[in-house]
Amino acid sequence: MKHEAIETNVGLMMIGIVIALSFGTLVELVPLMFAKETNEPIAGLKPLPALELEGRDIYIREGCNTCHSQMIRPLRAETERYGHYSVAGEFVYDHPFLWGSKRTGPDLARVGKRYSDDWHRAHMYNPRDVVPESNMPAFPWLFEKELSGEDTGKKMSALRTVGVPYTDEDIAGAKAAVEGRKEIDALIAYLQQLGTLLQTRR
Ligand code: HEC
Repeated sequence: MKHEAIETNVGLMMIGIVIALSFGTLVELVPLMFAKETNEPIAGLKPLPALELEGRDIYIREGCNTCHSQMIRPLRAETERYGHYSVAGEFVYDHPFLWGSKRTGPDLARVGKRYSDDWHRAHMYNPRDVVPESNMPAFPWLFEKELSGEDTGKKMSALRTVGVPYTDEDIAGAKAAVEGRKEIDALIAYLQQLGTLLQTRR
């Protein structure tokens, strides 16, 4: 009888569904919030140095993350191609996460050290020069624009308030580390460290 009352009443049914779903969600999510391996940095993980941090912001500004994911799933096809699957502890200093959901181009989670700086320079200047069938856009302006480093220290302080362990020296030295460098150098420095702590490929 009671069951019929719920099944014939859309409102009650919806409330029941919401309760059932949120309980399921909580059971899945809450333990992860306290699990060590999802909260703690993996061994050797350090906050990005000033130049790499600026490179990451250029990566976001240019929308690289709309075509490239940074998340290798634990599937044979992915680990054979990209290397060790991504683990949560690699991303604890990432704000925001750049895992992405679309792969027009390959995953970049472990692209660090896979190519030389010169390869990246040629590729960013015009992808077709190195990969003839590429449909990645060219980013020639990165070779002209210089970084001032004006805001780099402030970005680090902001990140520190959300738990990224930058030191006072990191922040004080940020401007000098970045000022006058070309945007392309910052971007490549960022790419070259991606995923290198857990590199098992080749
Ligand atoms: C419109 C989609 C698109 C955008 C935006 C884009 N890419 Fe790509 N990217 C691709 C495609 C497709 C490939 C594969 C062909 C090639 O290597 O050029 C690629 C390849 C790459 C590779 C080589 C990866 C490998 O493992 O061989 C790197 C590195 C890369 N992109 C970096 C970037 C960066 C950095 C940006 C932002 C400045 C960017 N991409 C923006 C589509 C895109």
